[in-house]
Amino acid sequence: MTQVHKAIIPVAGFGTRLLPISKAIPKEMVPVVDRPLIQHVVEEALAAGINEIILVTRAGKSAIEDHFDGHFELEHSLASKGKNALLETLSAISPKQLKVTSVRQPNAQGLGHAIYCAAHLLDENEPFAVILPDVLVKPQVASSACDLGDMVGRWNANQAAQIMVEAVPKEDVQRYGIVDCDEPDAGESADMRGVVEKPTPEEAPSCLSAVIGRYVLPYRIMELLRDQPPGAGNEIQLTDAIDRLMQEGQTVQAFRMLGRTFDCGHIEGWLQANTLLAREAGYEV
Ligand code: G1P
Repeated sequence: MTQVHKAIIPVAGFGTRLLPISKAIPKEMVPVVDRPLIQHVVEEALAAGINEIILVTRAGKSAIEDHFDGHFELEHSLASKGKNALLETLSAISPKQLKVTSVRQPNAQGLGHAIYCAAHLLDENEPFAVILPDVLVKPQVASSACDLGDMVGRWNANQAAQIMVEAVPKEDVQRYGIVDCDEPDAGESADMRGVVEKPTPEEAPSCLSAVIGRYVLPYRIMELLRDQPPGAGNEIQLTDAIDRLMQEGQTVQAFRMLGRTFDCGHIEGWLQANTLLAREAGYEV
């Protein structure tokens, strides 16, 4: 199987950077304008032609699964009052083609470990997308091919793994996976030479292209994650498995999106996303 049908979304994190908001509600349920962050991200997957979502979750975060489930009492109550617009709002959360499955990450051992928790839900040799739900990706022109959908299209065309990147200031490299490549033009991919998780500014490859949370990966990554030793922060890093994939001679490409990203996992990025998206939606803020 070579086409991408599934996206793995890790949602087991504590969301400490959003405290106190995220103490009793999952950070993925924090609203951005009129819907929870996770709904924006699932809409992005659907727009990219990915209809199967695998949530890697943990105890205390069932509100995320509830959000994509039916709500019989509410639907019945709205129907009996003829509130059809609200019923449509509810049914738009989970269009018919969307399938949401969840799996638990029993202990927090890093992003690579979280992704591996979903390995048994893939078919043999099945490629998959990974979406980090903290990050909202806002393409510059909604219709232009410069987003996850474009990455999936590139995989489908040439079977090369795709990693979305964005330039970051040198002082910020320790927060990201940093890619070694010739910087691609916006909306383009370039072959990667390597990738290193959270390097110091001195260790970072010079092009300062940071991994921002959208990946299209071959099944082989799961096999590499199975025995991936802990890396940065003593955690099992997806970045390290991607680096090994390249060492095996597989093509991995950095894809530079055209537009803007918001790290909604911290207050400032979340506020910026709310302000910009609210204005675009016509709200006065
Ligand atoms: C993860 C990845 C890192 C990536 C970042 C993007 O790190 O490991 O490579 O650059 O997400 O947000 P985390 O933010 O989970 O520490």
